[in-house]
Amino acid sequence: MTAAVPGAPAGAPAGDAVTVRPLTVDDLPALVRMEGELFGPGAWSRESLREEIRGPGRTYVGAVLPGGRLVGYAGTWFDGFDVQVMTVGTDAAHQGRGIGRAMLVHLLDAARTTGAESALLEVRVDNDAAIHLYEALGFTRLGRRRGYYQPENADAWTMRLDLRAR
Ligand SMILES: CC(C)(COP(=O)(O)OP(=O)(O)OC[C@H]1O[C@@H](n2cnc3c(N)ncnc32)[C@H](O)[C@@H]1OP(=O)(O)O)[C@@H](O)C(=O)NCCC(=O)NCCS
Repeated sequence: MTAAVPGAPAGAPAGDAVTVRPLTVDDLPALVRMEGELFGPGAWSRESLREEIRGPGRTYVGAVLPGGRLVGYAGTWFDGFDVQVMTVGTDAAHQGRGIGRAMLVHLLDAARTTGAESALLEVRVDNDAAIHLYEALGFTRLGRRRGYYQPENADAWTMRLDLRAR
């Protein structure tokens, strides 16, 4: 899937169109770098990332620029009923150009095709960018999980999107 990225800010570098494609273990070096930059101490290890992208029920995609550089990644886990959004991240230099949206739209379309009833996720209550993205895609808040993120003891919103509603 190739997505023209809407809303690119003035002065954005060339290559505002990304291709969303499946991730492979060859992407691990770029994934490890972005994961560390985006999630800091909470970042998944190289081994966890490897297990995620190869794991049962997992669908992981990356967003690549025309030159082939990976600038985003996202993944879901399908348990036979619903999909859980496991992660989404866009390289800091490329945020705000629709890349996160393009990856999630791709994954949610795939989940509908698979027959998933709904998509579920957790997000830190202070993560405005991610909450905005999820709400723009139609997710609504289900509840608040106290102390979901440790050791920082931060709360999470649980959010849900009905994939059967059009
Ligand atoms: C959350 C994240 C993936 C969004 O990726 P992105 O590629 O910048 O998102 P998009 O450009 O597709 O933006 C999607 C929407 O979110 C909005 N958005 C993006 N950054 C925002 C910000 N800092 N504040 C408020 N809204 C923001 C965009 O305006 C857009 O809304 P619109 O469709 O109404 O215009 C990115 O900020 C990121 O990687 N954050 C760090 C990792 C993280 O927190 N992941 C989520 C874990 S639950």
